[in-house]
Amino acid sequence: MSTNKRIVLSSDHAAIDLRQAIAKHITDLGWEAVDIGPNTTESTHYPKHGRAAALQVASGDCRFGIILCGTGQGIMMAANKVAGIRCGVCADAFSARMIRAHNNANMLSIGARVVGDALAIDIVDAFLNAEFEGGRHGTRVDMIEP
Ligand code: RB5
Repeated sequence: MSTNKRIVLSSDHAAIDLRQAIAKHITDLGWEAVDIGPNTTESTHYPKHGRAAALQVASGDCRFGIILCGTGQGIMMAANKVAGIRCGVCADAFSARMIRAHNNANMLSIGARVVGDALAIDIVDAFLNAEFEGGRHGTRVDMIEP
């Protein structure tokens, strides 16, 4: 298991409060939250925030990334354009567990306009508590990279 306890967080303007709540939650769990903002609700562009977070995961500086926008979809698409990133949008805890267990996801995306705050925390917990199962799933994950 990795000893890297750093998790990068980012979002667009649609998810500032939820992102900050998640940052506090994971800090309370013993992770180091690397919250790269933004910190105002001024309208911004989700692709640059998704990419910035993804680069920190792809470089190995952070073990995981948690990113948010209104739906979680746009920022996920941006993150997945960075080589080595496997990011899924989750609106339920089962999917969050499975993207770690079967897909070895290294980033989680959440839609702040889709899920409530309590469910978002459950989703984060499911993601962080799961382990990649490897084996046949490793073979398939290896096939994702171009
Ligand atoms: C911003 O209005 C919204 O489009 C964005 O947060 C996200 O939902 C895009 O995927």
